[in-house]
This record gives sequence, structure tokens and C-alpha cells, in this order.
Amino acid sequence: MTSYILVTGGTGYIGSHATVALQEAGYNVLILDNLSNSSASVIDAISSITGQKPLFVKGDIRDRECLERLFSDYSISAVMHFAGLKAVGESVQFPLRYYDNNVHGSVQLLETMQAANVRTFIFSSSATVYGDPQYLPLTEDHPLSSTNPYGHSKLIVEEILANLYQSEDHWRIARLRYFNPVGAHSSGLIGEAPQGIPNNLMPYVAQVATGERDCLRVFGNDYDTPDGTGVRDYIHVQDLVDGHVVALKHCLESSSELLTVNLGTGKGNSVLEMVKAFERSSNTRINYEIANRRPGDIAACWADTLLAEQTLGWKATRDLQTMCDDAWRWQQHYAKQAKS
Ligand code: NAD
Ligand code: WQD
Repeated sequence: MTSYILVTGGTGYIGSHATVALQEAGYNVLILDNLSNSSASVIDAISSITGQKPLFVKGDIRDRECLERLFSDYSISAVMHFAGLKAVGESVQFPLRYYDNNVHGSVQLLETMQAANVRTFIFSSSATVYGDPQYLPLTEDHPLSSTNPYGHSKLIVEEILANLYQSEDHWRIARLRYFNPVGAHSSGLIGEAPQGIPNNLMPYVAQVATGERDCLRVFGNDYDTPDGTGVRDYIHVQDLVDGHVVALKHCLESSSELLTVNLGTGKGNSVLEMVKAFERSSNTRINYEIANRRPGDIAACWADTLLAEQTLGWKATRDLQTMCDDAWRWQQHYAKQAKS
């Protein structure tokens, strides 16, 4: 019987790249996604890249019957769990929606896995669990806190996973704390496709470059950073998903594991540095204005990457210009698709 990696949220931004990386590493992928923030057309784009069509089931991680059917119909050896909601501002407005999707959904999934005796779980956590950094670079033992329901939902699931690991042997769990994923697959066929006005910097910059939006608002230029604008650790999405494949292999080879690692580059770049890099990639001028700080934003954040290097032998390799070149290739392809 063919064995699958179940990828929840596999038609989304990171999940689609993870599906490509998993297929390229020789795994069979089964995607479960409710398409609340993605389109089924991503499946064809994935097939064009890898020459292999992942299995796709449209369904919700909160639907217990659907999950049970999946685990009984297919032989599943591990789960990569990307499905969830991720907009910080929206989470403040609709906290219950976030706890239901991100926490209750994860619990449903874990209970179904437990019943089916599948105990390998790769979880999409976030650097947001570190709150406002007390020091930089951020090591995995930095104190944890949350300032919004989205971040809190990630912290709760991290804790649930630690409790689960303590309660039963044989769980092999990776809690992967992403810094700022950007860029797109080098083919330009898959990438980030935000609905409405983008919340995040890079999709917004890309839409200014195509002329879809007039002007980027730079949220604050009075931070204690080299040019006064916010500094983040931007990581190419292909590097990020390579880290997942390595973490999966690591877990599958362990008899018991609770791994918590940062996935970042270890370098920080400012908003204005990102704008300049994107201007070079797109050969356009990015129109911007300085606006007030965005409430809840931190000044700077970047990862300590030593643990990922030591435990997984993984390190991000793609530089800032590659992130912007790939994001631009995707943006042009995507903008063209959206018009047709
Ligand atoms: P995304 O919105 O592009 O992908 C999430 C996918 O999950 C979408 O395809 C959506 O349709 C699906 N989904 C949502 N709720 C679902 C449900 N209840 N049942 C089934 N499918 C559901 O987001 P992304 O950027 O690919 O993020 C993936 C994961 O990584 C999320 O858990 C997110 O919180 C986490 N993360 C993202 C970032 C980032 O900046 N993109 C940073 C840190 C962590
Ligand atoms: C980056 C920088 C902004 C938009 C968020 C979530 C975090 C994680 C990743 C999931 C900051 C500035 C942005 C704009 C701007 N997601 N900016 N103008 O805030 O680091 O992290 O996404 O886990 O949880 O909080 O990313 O891309 O929104 O912002 O000046 O229009 O760009 O102030 O300095 P952030 P971002």
C-alpha cells in the first residue's frame, strides 16, 4: 500500500512549496485543504513543477468524520500541519475564529492521528511566540509570550504538543518556528496569493511594483535600527520547506522526539533594504511614504540558527536578491493570471 505524507493546508503558500519539496525528495503527498485561503488550481501548478500530481481532498481539519475517513482510506506515515488562519489583525477582531481553526482544528487532527497510530507531526509555529525580543538573535530558549490571539493560538498548540509528547512515548514532533517567509518557487508557478489588501510587507511591495497599488506605507522610521525602519529575518520559502523535509526525515528516523527549532537565516534586513532589493529585481521604482508605526510591531527580530544547523544540518542558502527575484517572477505570472 502506498504510504503518504498528509499535508494540511497544502494548497496554501508554504504548504504548496512543501508539497513540491516532499515530492522531489521522493515522498507521496496527500493534501487536505478547505480552500478558504487558496485555490485548487495550485494542484496543477505543483504537477507542472514536479511531474507528479499530489492527491487532493477538499476538507476541513475541524471535520472529524473527514479526518477519520482520510486516515482509514490512506496509509499515512506523517503529518505536516500548515492549515490555519494567520492574519494578526483579523485574529484580534475574531479571536474565536482563530482558536477554533488553529487550536481546535489541531486537536481534532492530533486525536485522529492518535487513534490511527500515526505519531509523526511537523507543526508550523512562528517567531511570533517570542513576543518582543529581550535579546537578539533569538534562541529557542528565549522566553515565550503572545500579544494577539494568532500568536497565542501558536503558543497553545506548542504547549499541547509538549504535553502530548510527555504523556506518551513514540511521538515524534517538530515545532518549527518560522521567521518571515518570502519569495516563491523559482519556476514562478506557485507563490503567495493574498486575498484583498496584503498585510505583509513583501506581497504589498510586489503589488506596488506591478502598479496594482499606488504606494507602500512604511510603518515607522524612528525605530532603534540602522535606518529607523523595522528589521526582520526574511527567509526564502524554498529554504523554509527544505528545512521541513530535513525535520521530517529526522523525526522519522527517531524513536521519540520533541524538536523545537528556528527556521530563519540569522540575518536581519530593514523595510527600506527590502524595498531597494525589490526595486533591483523588478527594475521599477517602489513608491513609498513614511507612516506611523503599526500597533503591536516590534523593532527588530532575527533568528539564532545554530540549533537548526547542529540538530538538522540545515541552513538557509538563498540570499535576499534571490528572494526578491523569485517573488517578482511569481508576481508577474500571478498578476497576468488574475487578469485573464
Ligand atoms: P496560507 O493561508 O497560504 O495557507 C494555509 C492553508 O490552510 C490555506 O490553503 C487554507 O485554505 C488552509 N486552511 C485554513 N484553515 C483550514 C482548515 N480549517 N481546514 C483545512 N484547511 C484550512 O498560509 P501560509 O502562509 O502558507 O501559512 C501556513 C502555516 O504557517 C500557517 O499555520 C501559518 O500560521 C504558519 N506561519 C506562516 C507564516 C507566514 O508569514 N506566512 C509565518 C509563521 C507561521
Ligand atoms: C514586516 C516589516 C512592518 C507592511 C507577521 C506576523 C508574524 C508572521 C509573519 C505568521 C515590519 C513593515 C509591513 C507594510 C510596512 N506570521 N511593513 N508596511 O509583522 O514581521 O510578521 O508576518 O506567523 O506572526 O506578525 O511581517 O511582513 O507584516 O512586516 O512597513 O505595508 O514590514 O512594520 O517592520 P511581521 P510583515
